Amino acid sequence: MTAPKRPRGVRVLSGIKASGTQHIGNYFGALRQHIELQEGNRGTYFIADYHSMTTITDARERREFVHAIALDYLGLGLDPATSILYRQSDLPETAELTWMLDSVTPKGLLDRAHAYKDAVATGAPVNMGLYNYPVLMAADILIHRADIVPVGEDNKQHVEMARDIAIKFNNVYGEVLTIPDAYILSEVAIVPGADGRKMSKAYDNTIEMFAADKRLRKQVMGVVTDSTPVEGPKDPEASNLYLLWKLFAKADEAAEMAARFRAGGLGYGEVKKDLLRRILEYFGPARERRGELARDPATVEDVLRDGARRARETALGLVEDCREAAGLGPPS
Ligand code: ADP
Ligand code: TRP
Repeated sequence: MTAPKRPRGVRVLSGIKASGTQHIGNYFGALRQHIELQEGNRGTYFIADYHSMTTITDARERREFVHAIALDYLGLGLDPATSILYRQSDLPETAELTWMLDSVTPKGLLDRAHAYKDAVATGAPVNMGLYNYPVLMAADILIHRADIVPVGEDNKQHVEMARDIAIKFNNVYGEVLTIPDAYILSEVAIVPGADGRKMSKAYDNTIEMFAADKRLRKQVMGVVTDSTPVEGPKDPEASNLYLLWKLFAKADEAAEMAARFRAGGLGYGEVKKDLLRRILEYFGPARERRGELARDPATVEDVLRDGARRARETALGLVEDCREAAGLGPPS
């Protein structure tokens, strides 16, 4: 698969929902690209605490997730001097824009949303927040006049909906909104979890890159393997342990390891220990930076506040343009 052409000189916008602890699936599937795309672009990243309300109801827990994601971003190299990092609820006008967009969004569009349909199919309770999730996400994107929205395949439909909604709004009220493009991170393979299913907070099968040493060790040693004896030949591509290990290896190392799997005589324990060592090495510098910031919560809060201040400088203008176009508020 060819990687999409790397965008330059554009407004990049993406966010992470504050609903859990980030894992290496989130890193390879989202965070890494967010950080890389700051280079040469105007990057705006936010922590979606409004979105987390569809599932998280504990106030303290939400704040902890928000703080942890801010630490993740900053530890991994988001540069708050050049990029913007803010907390979604520090830009409450996003919710006002959501209402304006809601009023031009056909209900049928939201009926077709995967996340909503999955919830209905499994009999999970559906609140209006879950149903309306794509419109809030459209507001996040459109409020910043974003050109490019890097997301995984799973969020592709949401960005397409944001495009549809923006086009609808412009048809009704005039050319106010910028039509965004998704930047699908499809060259990224789905990272398998410890149990071989997709790594996901929902499956309790994650490896958290910034977990405390003991916890991380437990997660890595807990990667499920088959019962082939040490001597037996093993199929590397069928092994989630190999697929995880490969994420932290160069191509020639991966080929060599694959050959060792096939030859037999390789114990899974050895591979797990090496995987742990590689994870610690790979995320070492980020872990150190993150650790320092964790001891200084006031600085992290300052970054978020300053990010929100800068985000508001342009976003409020967009909301005002929408209000004006829709005839809301006093006449100008
Ligand atoms: P989770 O399944 O852990 O709740 P989310 O659905 O919140 O993760 O996903 C957040 C971002 O991380 C999305 O952009 C998604 O594409 C990416 N992501 C999540 N899990 C994986 C995975 N196992 N492999 C690759 N990318 C992933
Ligand atoms: N839905 C995204 C996730 O699954 C989070 C998100 C909310 C987002 N609003 C967004 C991503 C706007 C990109 C653009 O984590």
